[in-house]
Amino acid sequence: RAEVVINDSSSPAAVDRSNESIKHNIKPASSKWRHNQTLSLKIRKQILKFLDAEKDISVLKGTLKPGDIIHYVFDRDSTMNVSQNLYELLPRTSPLKGKQFPTCAIVGNSGVLLSSGCGPEIDAHSFVIRCNLAPVQEYSQDVGMKTDLVTMNPSVIQRAFEDLVNETWREKLLQRLHSLNGSILWIPAFMAKGGKERVEWVNELILKHHINVRTAYPSLRLLHAVRGYWLTNKVHIKRPTTGLLMYTLATRFCNQIYLYGFWPFPLDQNQNPVKYHYYDSLKYGYTSQASPHTMPLEFKALKTLHQQGALKLTVGECD
Ligand code: CTP
Repeated sequence: RAEVVINDSSSPAAVDRSNESIKHNIKPASSKWRHNQTLSLKIRKQILKFLDAEKDISVLKGTLKPGDIIHYVFDRDSTMNVSQNLYELLPRTSPLKGKQFPTCAIVGNSGVLLSSGCGPEIDAHSFVIRCNLAPVQEYSQDVGMKTDLVTMNPSVIQRAFEDLVNETWREKLLQRLHSLNGSILWIPAFMAKGGKERVEWVNELILKHHINVRTAYPSLRLLHAVRGYWLTNKVHIKRPTTGLLMYTLATRFCNQIYLYGFWPFPLDQNQNPVKYHYYDSLKYGYTSQASPHTMPLEFKALKTLHQQGALKLTVGECD
């Protein structure tokens, strides 16, 4: 249990961001990082006490029916009904059933990826996880193209696809969905109220246009279980970010885990500015009290795991 303990109780809001990147200096990818298999297996075992990625990655068809009422995980007083479309898109069996991959890449969305040249390295992993439908084509040299699982918070439809206000945006989303080409589209539909219509729009498009994706909708207990695991290990996260969720799930089915694009700081290790996202102009907002995330704290925990060989973080150029 002690492996992921970090002794930092400082509030991320109080952190002096200009110095933050210096504290988090990580040696270049070529330095002597060694995978610690024993520790990875130990972490997998510990996480299995809280959740099972194979099951929690998605609610299955057999467990719900159209019309069922679901209370949102973070807004318990608000409910949604399981629509016919949602029901149709629930998988019958876990998309990860019996899966084991030698190496996995989890690609976060930090601008630190720009000019990294990490694309080929990322694409060489056996399973590649991406977050929030982040674009790949225009950035393939730095982020790669291979996508085996991609997440989609409902808010992405608003942020990146203008809430599908007109045909142009609908077409843009359709193209992005078509490009997924058989990969898993992971939609946290039951987490927070407010995303219901957006999830429904996407479900409808997938069915209407026979889009070749394997949809997955995380279980109601996943977020609390993930938070429980990290809290037990003294990582006091408020609400896990998509990136941390993906790492926690990946420990179950990936033997070695490589993280790219995880860098929640406005300056890189050489004190050059870093965009919050590699593909848009969103600003750093995670330090605000209102933000549900505690990204620098998560990063610190991941960095400790990197140093112990349980995962590998790449925050600069690839070889
Ligand atoms: N990330 C990071 N540093 C950044 C931006 C992102 O480490 N500057 C990681 C985080 O783990 C994040 C993941 O990359 O979860 C994907 O980025 P984003 O799409 O912004 O993540 P969300 O956590 O889903 O953000 P939000 O809840 O605001 O939608």
